[in-house]
Amino acid sequence: MAMEAEKTKKEQKQPSEKKQEVVIAIKGLKKSFGEKHVLKNINLEVHRGENVVILGRSGTGKSVTIQCIVGMLKPDGGSVKVFGDEVADMSEKELKALRIKIGFLFQSGALYDSMTVRENLEFPLTRVLKIKDRDEIDRRVEEALDSVGLLEAIDKMPSDLSGGMRKRAGLARTIIVEPQIILYDEPTTGLDPITSREISDLILSIQKKQKTSSIIITHDMECARIASDRVVIMDDGEYIAEGTFDELHKSKEKIVGSYFKDIS
Ligand SMILES: Nc1ncnc2c1ncn2[C@@H]1O[C@H](COP(=O)(O)OP(=O)(O)OP(=O)(O)O)[C@@H](O)[C@H]1O
Ligand SMILES: [Mg+2]
Repeated sequence: MAMEAEKTKKEQKQPSEKKQEVVIAIKGLKKSFGEKHVLKNINLEVHRGENVVILGRSGTGKSVTIQCIVGMLKPDGGSVKVFGDEVADMSEKELKALRIKIGFLFQSGALYDSMTVRENLEFPLTRVLKIKDRDEIDRRVEEALDSVGLLEAIDKMPSDLSGGMRKRAGLARTIIVEPQIILYDEPTTGLDPITSREISDLILSIQKKQKTSSIIITHDMECARIASDRVVIMDDGEYIAEGTFDELHKSKEKIVGSYFKDIS
């Protein structure tokens, strides 16, 4: 009987659901460090072209989750599949190939301080994609900088850039290899509200322009509002709520409400 009811429910849902390709599939993910059980049971699917925002208190394991996605950390249990392949089973060579498809924007922006902005952007083209054609390199560097509004800073050193400009340069370096997935770890942290908004708008425009799928970890609710198609809230090693920004905004759940209490 119960199965019957389940089936009917699924059948009823189908017409409104478009068939979507899953690019990241996380099931029952567990990760501990010694006695510290950080990820207890993480379940998440990211569809092609979708921006998923992860909210959660500091130290709940948001960064650990994305490190499992790129194979920098090995899970203790469960499954993390990217484009259908289990990350934990990949060889070093396969991981390298995976990391070309996945752009990773670190919190610090992580530019090389001894290189100009241009050289920072050339690096992934020449070292990772092994592109040798000078014209193609110049064109792609200029295009990437232009799309983050930073073309005029092409010959500057990172130390001459403001925090917001460094973030943009980091973003340009992430998108220059045209990754299919981008993982953003706190892209707006440490920026003023106006610059944060610009970065959030950029994240949205990259999604639209390059059809990327993204996970965006943030504490910035304005960024969540602007950039997300879907939001998940993480607490005590699990995802405890999921929905669109507006759905969660209306939620009566106490923990969910605590994230939205200052939002009009
Ligand atoms: N390589 C590691 N070795 C040991 N412990 C780790 C390691 N990486 C993360 N941890 C621990 O796992 C927990 C979760 O860390 P994580 O960085 O994922 O938190 P977070 O949710 O990203 O927090 P924040 O919002 O502050 O960035 C923390 O207690 C951290 O100390
Ligand atoms: Mg973190």
